[in-house]
Amino acid sequence: MQRTPLIAANWKMNGSAALVEEITRELTGLELSDTEVLICPPATLINRFSAERNFALGAQNVSHEKAGAFTGELSTDLLLEAGARFVIIGHSERRTLNFESDALIAAKLAAAVNAGLTPVLCIGETLEQRQQEKTQQVLARQLDAVYASQPELLAKSVIAYEPIWAIGTGESATPQQAQTTHAFIRQHLKQYDTQSAIRVKLLYGGSVNADNCAALFDQADIDGALVGGASLKPAEFAQICLAV
Ligand code: G3H
Repeated sequence: MQRTPLIAANWKMNGSAALVEEITRELTGLELSDTEVLICPPATLINRFSAERNFALGAQNVSHEKAGAFTGELSTDLLLEAGARFVIIGHSERRTLNFESDALIAAKLAAAVNAGLTPVLCIGETLEQRQQEKTQQVLARQLDAVYASQPELLAKSVIAYEPIWAIGTGESATPQQAQTTHAFIRQHLKQYDTQSAIRVKLLYGGSVNADNCAALFDQADIDGALVGGASLKPAEFAQICLAV
């Protein structure tokens, strides 16, 4: 793999102070060599992690506004102060349940990069879109919405391909399906900046577990994973980190 691998955990609305301690214990002392590990817990838990750790922290969402009367929102500055260095943006659950538009996601990504947070941009198609052979069209739209007018942001981004039909279903994309799609994403990104497209980390997300991760990580354009359910099980998450 020509890019440094990244294994990211998205705890979603799960976890506890006890899990913060458990995962820290599990990951401490792991021989991670070149692998970067990222934990994205609920925002209230970010500053429960000790400064002594061998992984980075991220948030699961951020406001595109700097500060002000935005009840319930969290700004880039608040996340940075809490200890986050990454932020997940455009997860399909937020696109669907919180009606986040492509335009809003583009604004959030710009705000994150400008503040010094690394965005993990999530893109992915529904089962219906895949069956209608619209996967590439959907992914191109989601990428263009962010990078067509601000191609310089690509160099500072991580991108996670998460087919919606694979999220939380136990049915991961096959390594070949994932590789084909990742190769398309990387090729599509070259129109913005060839070097950044070659360097950008492309994570796969969707029912990644200790059993299926190695075959996914063997693929040329898969640089790691965004792990949901399995990231709540410290021993299994550690196995995934070691498999890349
Ligand atoms: O952000 C993570 C993804 O939604 C994947 O979740 O591993 O539970 O399928 P999952």
